[in-house]
Amino acid sequence: MVRGPSYYRGRVTIAVFPGSFDPITRGHLDVVRRALRFADEVVVAIANNAGKAPLLSIETRLELAREAVQHLPGVRVEAVPGLLVEFCRAADADVIVKGLRGGADYDAEMPMALMNRHLTGIETVFVIGDPALAHIASSLVRDVARNSGDIEDLVPRGVAAAVCRALGAARTTKE
Ligand code: PNS
Repeated sequence: MVRGPSYYRGRVTIAVFPGSFDPITRGHLDVVRRALRFADEVVVAIANNAGKAPLLSIETRLELAREAVQHLPGVRVEAVPGLLVEFCRAADADVIVKGLRGGADYDAEMPMALMNRHLTGIETVFVIGDPALAHIASSLVRDVARNSGDIEDLVPRGVAAAVCRALGAARTTKE
Protein backbone atom coordinates (compact mmCIF):
# COMPACT_ATOMS: atom_id res chain seq x y z
CA MET A 1 0.00 0.00 0.00
CA VAL A 2 1.34 3.42 -0.91
CA ARG A 3 0.94 5.87 1.96
CA GLY A 4 0.68 9.63 1.40
CA PRO A 5 1.36 12.66 3.59
CA SER A 6 -1.74 12.08 5.77
CA TYR A 7 -0.22 8.78 7.01
CA TYR A 8 2.64 10.84 8.37
CA ARG A 9 0.09 13.35 9.79
CA GLY A 10 1.35 16.05 7.42
CA ARG A 11 4.14 16.94 9.82
CA VAL A 12 6.69 17.43 7.07
CA THR A 13 5.41 20.07 4.73
CA ILE A 14 8.49 21.25 2.86
CA ALA A 15 11.45 18.98 2.12
CA VAL A 16 14.53 20.31 0.35
CA PHE A 17 16.36 17.75 -1.81
CA PRO A 18 19.81 19.22 -2.50
CA GLY A 19 22.49 18.05 -4.89
CA SER A 20 24.64 18.91 -7.86
CA PHE A 21 22.25 17.21 -10.30
CA ASP A 22 25.01 17.12 -12.94
CA PRO A 23 22.87 15.73 -14.55
CA ILE A 24 19.57 14.74 -12.89
CA THR A 25 19.11 10.95 -13.12
CA ARG A 26 16.35 8.38 -12.71
CA GLY A 27 17.79 7.72 -9.24
CA HIS A 28 17.14 11.35 -8.27
CA LEU A 29 13.54 11.09 -9.53
CA ASP A 30 13.06 7.98 -7.39
CA VAL A 31 14.12 9.99 -4.31
CA VAL A 32 11.75 12.85 -5.23
CA ARG A 33 8.83 10.40 -5.53
CA ARG A 34 9.67 8.81 -2.17
CA ALA A 35 9.95 12.22 -0.50
CA LEU A 36 6.47 13.12 -1.79
CA ARG A 37 5.12 10.29 0.39
CA PHE A 38 5.89 12.26 3.55
CA ALA A 39 6.25 15.84 2.34
CA ASP A 40 3.62 18.08 0.80
CA GLU A 41 6.25 19.98 -1.18
CA VAL A 42 9.66 18.92 -2.43
CA VAL A 43 12.16 21.54 -3.52
CA VAL A 44 14.89 20.13 -5.77
CA ALA A 45 17.73 22.45 -4.79
CA ILE A 46 20.60 22.64 -7.26
CA ALA A 47 23.80 23.65 -5.53
CA ASN A 48 27.49 23.74 -6.24
CA ASN A 49 29.69 21.12 -4.62
CA ALA A 50 33.01 22.76 -3.70
CA GLY A 51 34.79 19.48 -4.52
CA LYS A 52 33.49 19.12 -8.09
CA ALA A 53 33.67 21.20 -11.27
CA PRO A 54 30.29 20.67 -12.97
CA LEU A 55 29.98 19.54 -16.58
CA LEU A 56 26.61 21.27 -17.05
CA SER A 57 25.96 24.95 -16.36
CA ILE A 58 23.57 25.81 -13.55
CA GLU A 59 21.07 27.03 -16.18
CA THR A 60 21.15 23.68 -17.99
CA ARG A 61 20.89 21.70 -14.74
CA LEU A 62 17.87 23.77 -13.71
CA GLU A 63 16.21 23.40 -17.11
CA LEU A 64 16.72 19.61 -17.24
CA ALA A 65 15.51 19.11 -13.67
CA ARG A 66 12.43 21.31 -14.24
CA GLU A 67 11.52 19.31 -17.32
CA ALA A 68 12.02 16.03 -15.45
CA VAL A 69 9.70 16.92 -12.53
CA GLN A 70 7.05 18.90 -14.39
CA HIS A 71 4.57 15.99 -14.13
CA LEU A 72 4.96 15.77 -10.33
CA PRO A 73 2.62 18.11 -8.42
CA GLY A 74 4.21 19.75 -5.38
CA VAL A 75 7.74 19.67 -6.79
CA ARG A 76 9.75 22.72 -7.80
CA VAL A 77 13.36 23.25 -8.78
CA GLU A 78 15.52 26.11 -7.56
CA ALA A 79 19.18 27.13 -7.52
CA VAL A 80 21.07 27.41 -4.22
CA PRO A 81 23.21 30.56 -4.44
CA GLY A 82 25.26 29.96 -1.27
CA LEU A 83 24.91 27.91 1.87
CA LEU A 84 22.28 25.20 1.72
CA VAL A 85 21.05 25.92 5.24
CA GLU A 86 20.38 29.57 4.33
CA PHE A 87 18.41 28.40 1.32
CA CYS A 88 16.43 26.05 3.60
CA ARG A 89 15.73 28.88 6.02
CA ALA A 90 14.49 31.15 3.21
CA ALA A 91 12.34 28.30 1.82
CA ASP A 92 10.92 27.63 5.31
CA ALA A 93 12.00 24.00 4.90
CA ASP A 94 11.19 21.43 7.59
CA VAL A 95 13.82 18.90 6.52
CA ILE A 96 16.56 18.15 4.05
CA VAL A 97 16.01 14.88 2.21
CA LYS A 98 18.74 12.76 0.65
CA GLY A 99 18.82 9.34 -1.00
CA LEU A 100 21.13 6.54 0.05
CA ARG A 101 22.29 3.83 -2.36
CA GLY A 102 24.67 2.19 0.08
CA GLY A 103 27.35 2.66 2.71
CA ALA A 104 29.53 4.95 0.60
CA ASP A 105 26.63 7.41 0.31
CA TYR A 106 26.10 7.25 4.05
CA ASP A 107 29.79 8.00 4.69
CA ALA A 108 29.65 11.00 2.35
CA GLU A 109 26.31 12.30 3.60
CA MET A 110 26.73 11.99 7.35
CA PRO A 111 29.25 14.84 7.80
CA MET A 112 27.09 17.13 5.63
CA ALA A 113 23.97 16.25 7.64
CA LEU A 114 25.83 16.90 10.89
CA MET A 115 27.26 20.19 9.61
CA ASN A 116 23.86 21.40 8.39
CA ARG A 117 22.32 20.48 11.76
CA HIS A 118 25.17 22.25 13.55
CA LEU A 119 24.58 25.42 11.52
CA THR A 120 20.82 25.83 11.94
CA GLY A 121 19.43 22.70 13.60
CA ILE A 122 17.80 21.41 10.41
CA GLU A 123 17.45 17.62 10.28
CA THR A 124 18.31 15.44 7.28
CA VAL A 125 15.98 12.56 6.41
CA PHE A 126 17.52 9.71 4.44
CA VAL A 127 15.49 7.57 2.09
CA ILE A 128 16.71 4.27 0.68
CA GLY A 129 16.47 4.38 -3.10
CA ASP A 130 15.18 1.63 -5.37
CA PRO A 131 17.93 -1.03 -5.46
CA ALA A 132 17.25 -1.46 -9.19
CA LEU A 133 18.65 2.07 -9.62
CA ALA A 134 21.53 1.78 -7.15
CA HIS A 135 24.14 1.75 -9.93
CA ILE A 136 23.04 5.15 -11.21
CA ALA A 137 25.22 8.08 -10.17
CA SER A 138 25.66 11.34 -12.06
CA SER A 139 29.44 10.83 -12.07
CA LEU A 140 29.08 7.39 -13.71
CA VAL A 141 26.53 8.75 -16.17
CA ARG A 142 29.01 11.44 -17.24
CA ASP A 143 31.80 8.88 -17.50
CA VAL A 144 29.74 6.47 -19.63
CA ALA A 145 28.69 9.33 -21.92
CA ARG A 146 32.25 10.67 -22.12
CA ASN A 147 33.31 7.27 -23.44
CA SER A 148 30.46 7.12 -25.98
CA GLY A 149 28.28 4.72 -23.96
CA ASP A 150 24.48 4.81 -24.00
CA ILE A 151 22.97 6.72 -21.05
CA GLU A 152 19.36 6.99 -22.30
CA ASP A 153 18.05 4.41 -19.78
CA LEU A 154 19.74 6.12 -16.85
CA VAL A 155 18.34 9.63 -17.14
CA PRO A 156 15.01 11.37 -17.81
CA ARG A 157 14.06 12.23 -21.38
CA GLY A 158 16.15 15.00 -22.96
CA VAL A 159 19.01 14.69 -20.51
CA ALA A 160 21.22 12.37 -22.58
CA ALA A 161 21.21 14.77 -25.52
CA ALA A 162 22.10 17.72 -23.25
CA VAL A 163 24.99 15.78 -21.68
CA CYS A 164 26.33 14.84 -25.13
CA ARG A 165 26.08 18.46 -26.27
CA ALA A 166 27.98 19.65 -23.19
CA LEU A 167 30.68 17.01 -23.69
CA GLY A 168 31.00 18.01 -27.35
CA ALA A 169 31.36 21.68 -26.38
CA ALA A 170 33.94 20.80 -23.70
CA ARG A 171 35.98 18.82 -26.28
CA THR A 172 35.85 21.69 -28.81
CA THR A 173 36.99 24.18 -26.15
CA LYS A 174 39.97 21.96 -25.25
CA GLU A 175 41.10 21.51 -28.89
O1 PNS B 1 25.09 15.86 -5.29
P1 PNS B 1 26.20 16.28 -4.35
O2 PNS B 1 27.37 16.86 -5.13
O3 PNS B 1 26.63 15.17 -3.44
O4 PNS B 1 25.58 17.43 -3.42
C1 PNS B 1 26.40 18.10 -2.47
C2 PNS B 1 25.77 19.48 -2.17
C3 PNS B 1 25.72 20.30 -3.45
C4 PNS B 1 24.37 19.27 -1.62
C5 PNS B 1 26.66 20.21 -1.11
O5 PNS B 1 27.95 20.38 -1.60
C6 PNS B 1 26.06 21.56 -0.67
O6 PNS B 1 25.17 21.59 0.17
N1 PNS B 1 26.53 22.67 -1.30
C7 PNS B 1 26.02 24.02 -1.00
C8 PNS B 1 27.02 24.82 -0.12
C9 PNS B 1 26.94 24.34 1.32
O7 PNS B 1 25.95 24.52 2.02
N2 PNS B 1 28.02 23.70 1.77
C10 PNS B 1 28.11 23.11 3.10
C11 PNS B 1 27.59 21.69 3.04
S1 PNS B 1 27.63 20.89 4.62
